[in-house]
Amino acid sequence: MKLTENIPFANLSYRLTLILLLNLHLLNAQSWTDVKIDSLINLMTVEEKIGQLTLFTSDWATTGPSIRGNYLDDIRSGKAGNIFNAHTSAYNAKLQKVAVEESRLGIPLLFGYDVIHGYKTIFPIPLAEAASWDLVLIEKSARIAGEEAAAGGLHWTYAPMVDIARDPRWGRIAEGAGEDVYLGSQIAGARVRGFQGDDLAAPNTILACAKHFAAYGVAQAGRDYHTVDISEHTLWETYLPPFKACVDAGVTTFMTSFNELFGVPASANQYLLEKVLRDTWHFQGFVVSDYTSINEMVNHGFATNNEEAAKLALNAGVDMDMQGAVYYDYAKDLLMNGRISEQTINMSVKRILQLKNKLGLFDDPYRYSDDQREKEIILSENNKAAAREIARQSMVLLSNKNQTLPLKSTEKIALIGPLVDSPIDMLGSWHGSGQASDVISILKAFTDQTTNFQYAKGCDIEGSDTTMFDQAILVAKNADKIVLVAGEDFTMSGEAASRAKIRIPEIQRELLKRLVALKKPVILVLINGRPLCLPWETEHVDAILEAWQPGTMAGPAIRDVLYGEFNPSGKLPVTFPIDEGQIPLYYNMKNTGRPMDPNQKYTSKYLDMPNEPLFPFGYGLSYTTFQYSMATVDKTEIERDDSLNFKITVTNTGHVGGQEITQLYMRDMFASVTRPVKELKRFEKFYLGPGESRDVKFTLSIEDLKFYNQELNWEAESGTFLFGIGGDSNTDLNIRVNLK
Ligand code: NOJ
Repeated sequence: MKLTENIPFANLSYRLTLILLLNLHLLNAQSWTDVKIDSLINLMTVEEKIGQLTLFTSDWATTGPSIRGNYLDDIRSGKAGNIFNAHTSAYNAKLQKVAVEESRLGIPLLFGYDVIHGYKTIFPIPLAEAASWDLVLIEKSARIAGEEAAAGGLHWTYAPMVDIARDPRWGRIAEGAGEDVYLGSQIAGARVRGFQGDDLAAPNTILACAKHFAAYGVAQAGRDYHTVDISEHTLWETYLPPFKACVDAGVTTFMTSFNELFGVPASANQYLLEKVLRDTWHFQGFVVSDYTSINEMVNHGFATNNEEAAKLALNAGVDMDMQGAVYYDYAKDLLMNGRISEQTINMSVKRILQLKNKLGLFDDPYRYSDDQREKEIILSENNKAAAREIARQSMVLLSNKNQTLPLKSTEKIALIGPLVDSPIDMLGSWHGSGQASDVISILKAFTDQTTNFQYAKGCDIEGSDTTMFDQAILVAKNADKIVLVAGEDFTMSGEAASRAKIRIPEIQRELLKRLVALKKPVILVLINGRPLCLPWETEHVDAILEAWQPGTMAGPAIRDVLYGEFNPSGKLPVTFPIDEGQIPLYYNMKNTGRPMDPNQKYTSKYLDMPNEPLFPFGYGLSYTTFQYSMATVDKTEIERDDSLNFKITVTNTGHVGGQEITQLYMRDMFASVTRPVKELKRFEKFYLGPGESRDVKFTLSIEDLKFYNQELNWEAESGTFLFGIGGDSNTDLNIRVNLK
């Protein structure tokens, strides 16, 4: 038999064994797996190698500006080794069969997809999940998403998105964990562990992808894809840590970002891809470009044409080209002309084949296509129960005057708004293969479980049609309390969905004003993918529940919270400004040389707006109240090898049980590089029954006092540190510690 014969993939191991016999000399230097992979690479033509570096979207969905023609031919000829936006066990098995049985070498395809917050059982958007501050649940959500995706024939998710985002106009703030470095890093690690599990070879785990590397969230003016211009310090201090947390959690792939950094587009950025990722962090997996981001280097004015763009990206270490077809079109010529080396190509091919191997695809390319498993796992009762639980844990009670919430079953409720019966909008952006028909809407949940309510739509999400107002007013007049469900539709956040005005759309605000004028208790339930500016609403309505985009189980989860069957405990992972003019606004800003003083003109403030946000980072109410004792620390003078042990007693002083999220903040008072006024250092979430108390303890070490100094070295400097513990980022820093 000729080694290059077109034989079924099932024979590949046999074939590789033969090859191996011919390459025995390699065995001394390399592991068994490496030998197999190197042998396979030796067998490949240049086109086949480039095929492994090529990723095309199927025609099932497009998540970018263009699709190619017949990708089946490319799979057959070995020119497309990876496919995204194709899913389901059966369809992917069909494509896999073409690769395995009809391509010359039978190398299995890798199937990727944006499984961002669920595959078919859709969980709350990532920003919402971050509001739960519940790392166990967040990991579980990613685990279930990974299991469902794997059952749907997928090997690889383009998640987690770990971009720190401090500009709520940016639509993709919905996809991340918010504004904070510490919380964001913890969540990044949890998500990677969730998707990848303990064993990539297990058929229910998938590759995770840390994206978008790096600083994509700093798009100027919050406009998607816009220029990024930050200092190296800010990059290291704020934007890189969540990526590092992914590496520490064993993430296997990285995706570059669309933006430039230090004037160099991320997809050719050697500083990021070589210096940081490979040399400093020793990342071993592969790097994929974002969708046509290599080609876009021409528009950036960085590469003169696509061929040069391909060269720059390959040489910078972008192993796989997503949809741009620039490796497909130009890599061979570049190699022939000596503008890229064979070693570069081989290295990238190897990284990709290694992960295909780790997934077990060389043993059984169809192991992710099991129709029976797909039926059992996807949208199972267990998965839906988890989605409901995480959705409840994600909701944030922003205001609750006179204990308007929870609702009582005896009260007559007017349930109003365009989002009450809008299943698709519960799913948010990037909802995988989630279907509106699988969503339990708010109306459905009320209809199933509540008798004492009347519904009126009131208006559309946007537009100027007020004809439904009257019916809503009629329903409201007949009720004891009014619940208005308002906010954004699912297309108003996510990619290419920046908004300059982050308000509830005007027509819904008008309706709200009419309802408030009735002088009955009004509860505003928000459905949205970003912080909104709500100054009027906060002043005039009685209660606000931030429900975000809660996913498949939106209705039951929202109803649970409104009726007090679940006591809300979420805390904001991102600041809510009063007005867009304050953006960027985040809690751990610097002090400036002229910190705000309302009585001094020449200080850092606005003439027409407070500096403070509407709702600060870390904030969220409960149906009960928590009292904090004075925090204590075991030492106020420390040496470098000491640890600091903090303690505070938290008491539930209300009449119902509830969860609190206690947060420890720090300020380094003086340093060779200025430090933020506050940094979150630890948090703990716990449940307390009515009247119950708990001692919350936090331990910090010298590591927690470190920062990047002027030479960008990670160090702690002697001096004074302030600490404070409380229920949000407004916490006073009243403990003083001196580091010798
Ligand atoms: C572009 C987005 O930026 C990225 O996050 C996504 O994974 C790809 N498109 C694929 O859909």
